[in-house]
Amino acid sequence: MEKLMIRGGRPLRGTVQISGAKNSAVALLPASLLAETEVVLDNLPQLSDVAVYSEILQELGGKVTWEGGVMKIDPSGLVSKPMPNGKVNLLRASYYLMGALLGRFGEATIGLPGGCNFEPRPIDQHIKGFEALGATVTNDHGSIRISAKQLRGAKIYLDVVSVGATINIMLAASKAKGSTIIENAAKEPEIIDVATLLNSMGAKIKGAGTETIRIEGVDSLHGCRHSIIPDRIQAGTYMIAAAATRGDVLIDNVIPKHLEAMTAKLLEMGVQVYELDEAIRIVGGPSYEAIDVKALVYPGFATDLQSPMTSLLTQATGVSILSDYVYSNRFKHVPELVRMGAKIRVEGRSAIIEGGPLNAAKVQAADLRAGAALTVAGLTVSEGITEITGVEYIDRGYDFLVDNLRRLGADVWRENE
Ligand code: EPU
Repeated sequence: MEKLMIRGGRPLRGTVQISGAKNSAVALLPASLLAETEVVLDNLPQLSDVAVYSEILQELGGKVTWEGGVMKIDPSGLVSKPMPNGKVNLLRASYYLMGALLGRFGEATIGLPGGCNFEPRPIDQHIKGFEALGATVTNDHGSIRISAKQLRGAKIYLDVVSVGATINIMLAASKAKGSTIIENAAKEPEIIDVATLLNSMGAKIKGAGTETIRIEGVDSLHGCRHSIIPDRIQAGTYMIAAAATRGDVLIDNVIPKHLEAMTAKLLEMGVQVYELDEAIRIVGGPSYEAIDVKALVYPGFATDLQSPMTSLLTQATGVSILSDYVYSNRFKHVPELVRMGAKIRVEGRSAIIEGGPLNAAKVQAADLRAGAALTVAGLTVSEGITEITGVEYIDRGYDFLVDNLRRLGADVWRENE
């Protein structure tokens, strides 16, 4: 196991290139299983979750080649196979195999998904969707078994706005007989990305990115080439890190529209933000104002940026309140930030953050975005070395993190624990 070492206090300066979106990639890989010929994905991030997913596709009989940011998936030799445990338990997004295999073979047996367990993350809305499409869902010794002789289109109202359920239902419904309507669908850009891939494969999906998605089922889907959208969470994290270190950073290869809530909040604090066509420049200042932030579903402020934002708010003058309305208890970063001298208390679904300096400490990343929060915090500390364990979580979502930060002038490195 490795740990991340940070000697902070240096303003980040320069340009950082943002990779393809992790949360798109982990949905596009299983989506490609619905095709009968080769799918090529460009701009794929080099992340551990992507590596695990590509191994899962191979276990299912897919042929995968992965070079740099390009992955070729030939699903022609795919077999229907139960996946009760093993690699599926390592990933949250393994739940997309349910929709993809159900659409392709009319059956799927998938072990319960793993991933970042910052709080219970139910999948009842996914199951509600599969059942509405005519599937039978049973719990088979801890695995979910789903089968349908013939999937049939249906009208599905999601009780909770869920990214995963929206995508999973789109996957299965693409191969159902007749039309499906998903009401109260999630609107995240990753959903549009998955619909774009599926449509390029021959699916008929309209309305992705709005709260009503219409899917006309088709008999078969074919291969295509697709470029993954930039990772708005990775981009937002670098925006936060640039501001927190009072730096000047051009965040390149982004879709500024995907980061509007982040941009608005930084401006409100007094950070200078310049939106360009496919880049955002952040210029930090000597002092920031405390603000209130509410993490909501898209286009609201992203819950995945809530943790690193907590670290930035420790650098503001006054008391900020950051509330998460997507996850009620996603605050595993808070006790670690407190070890670094932060004055934060959690009340219900809010963190109350009183600005003040941080100090170096040995801290533990308990999940991916908690790791991002601690990295941002470490970069602000001018004396001593911050040691972050749990780097394997950070590797799930931030490729080339050390290289990128070093290129921006940070003093960071990895060491064996
Ligand atoms: N929910 C239910 N029932 C369901 C599904 C969700 O109650 O069947 C609840 C969840 O407990 C949560 C809310 O609905 O309170 C939203 O969950 P959602 O289903 O949207 O989350 P997800 O699809 O499991 C994805 C991302 C997460 C991100 C959330 C919210 C992937 C692989 N994961 O998860 O990303 O936090 O959407 O935007 O796309 C991360 O990248 O660090 C990460 C955790």
